[in-house]
Amino acid sequence: MRVSIESLLSEIEQLAGVGAIPNGGVCRLALTDEDKQGRDHVIERMTQLGLSIVSDPIGNVCGRFLGRDPSLAPVMMGSHIDTVRTGGRLDGNLGVLAGLEVIRACQAQGVQPLRSLEVAFFTNEEGSRFPPDMMGSLVYAGTLPLEEARAKRDAEGVSVGEELERLGLAGSAPIPGQAPFAFVELHIEQGPLLDAHGESIGVVEAVQGISWQRLRLSGQSNHAGTTPIGMRRDAGLAASRIHLALHDIVTSFGGDMVGTVGRQSWHPNLVNVVPSRVEMTIDLRSPVEEQLREAEAAFAQACLGIADACGVELESEQLVRLEPVTFDPRIVHRIEELAQRSGIAHRRMVSGAGHDAQVIGQMAPAGMIFVPSIAGVSHNPADATSAEDFSRWTQLLADVVLDLAECVSEDRL
Ligand code: HGY
Ligand code: MN
Ligand code: MN
Repeated sequence: MRVSIESLLSEIEQLAGVGAIPNGGVCRLALTDEDKQGRDHVIERMTQLGLSIVSDPIGNVCGRFLGRDPSLAPVMMGSHIDTVRTGGRLDGNLGVLAGLEVIRACQAQGVQPLRSLEVAFFTNEEGSRFPPDMMGSLVYAGTLPLEEARAKRDAEGVSVGEELERLGLAGSAPIPGQAPFAFVELHIEQGPLLDAHGESIGVVEAVQGISWQRLRLSGQSNHAGTTPIGMRRDAGLAASRIHLALHDIVTSFGGDMVGTVGRQSWHPNLVNVVPSRVEMTIDLRSPVEEQLREAEAAFAQACLGIADACGVELESEQLVRLEPVTFDPRIVHRIEELAQRSGIAHRRMVSGAGHDAQVIGQMAPAGMIFVPSIAGVSHNPADATSAEDFSRWTQLLADVVLDLAECVSEDRL
C-alpha cells in the first residue's frame, strides 16, 4: 500500500489556512473560534473518508475506518490540531493529517486491515491557554477528571467548560475512552538533533518529565522616585531574581534539563511605580525524574529565600506534573525495524516536548515517529521540515500501523 504525498501536502496547506498568521504560521489556541474552524475542517475530511466519527465530553474527536474484524480494538494514530499563539503548520497537524492520508490510501487501494484504523485529535494538547498540556488525552485516558478539566480557566477567567458549551464541542462518547490496541504518533521533533545529524527519522524511546508552576509575587506598589531601595517590597525585583535562580539551577544540573519563564505579567506595569504584583509561569523539564525532583526542591528553596529578602509574599500553584515516560519497546522496535527496512537514516531519541502519545501510552502500547525540524525551530511560524521526506515518513507510519493492525492479539505484538 503506497501513500500519496500530493494529497497530504495539500491537506497541510489547507488546514494551515485556518487561523493563519503572517510568515506562514498558525494561531489556533485551544477552544477558540479558530480551533473550532480547524476541527470542522478535519471532521469534514473524516466525513469524506466515510469514517465513523465520535467525540467525547472534553471534545476529543476520533474517526474510525472499520477493519475486517471490527470487534477488535483499533490501531490509533493522531495528535492535536490546537496550536500555540505563534505556531507552525506542522506541530500536531502533521500527525492527524498523515493518519488520514494512511486511511485514504488504504481505501483507494482496497486495503482493509484486520483491525480498524482510527485517527484522533485530542483537545488542548498545548496547554498554553488552559493548563495542563495534553488536557484532552489526559481526560481520554482517565488520568484527569472531566470536571477538573472543565473548571480550568484562562488568563481572562474563561473556563474550559464555558468554551466547550459555547462552541458545541462536548460530545457523548464514554470517558475514559476505549484503549486502542496500539497508538502511533507522527510528529515533528521540535528540536535540533535530527536536522543536525542529517537523520530523517527519530525513533522516540521516551518523553522527558515536565513540571509547570504559576508563581504569584505580592509586594507593595510605591513611588519609583521617592521610595528608597531599602524600603521597597519590589515584586518585579523578586521575579527577576527568581528567573535568574531558575537559570542557575538548571545550568548547574546540566545534561538535558531545561527551565523557562514563558509568561509574566506585572502590576501596575507603569514606568514610575514599583511593581506590587507579578505573576509568572515556570516550565521545568528533565528526562531524569530524581533530577527533576531535586531541581524543583532547589528552586522552591531559592524562591522562598528571594521572596523573604525582597519582602514579598510568594504563592505557587502546580499546573502540570508528568513524570518521564518510556514507550513500549515492542512499538519502538517495530518502528526502528521498519525504518531500517526502508533504508531511512534514523536514531533513537528522547522527546523534549510533551505529547499525547505519552498519555495514551499509559493505557496502551504507544510509540512516536519524529521527523526533522529545520534548525530545530518550533513553536514559531518558521517551524518547517524538509519536504522531500514527507512521503517516506508517512509511508513509514502506514507500514507500522498496518503491521500492528494485523496482530490478532497483544502477544503477537
Ligand atoms: O509543551 C509541550 O511540550 C507541548 O508542545 N505541548
Ligand atoms: Mn505538538
Ligand atoms: Mn506544541
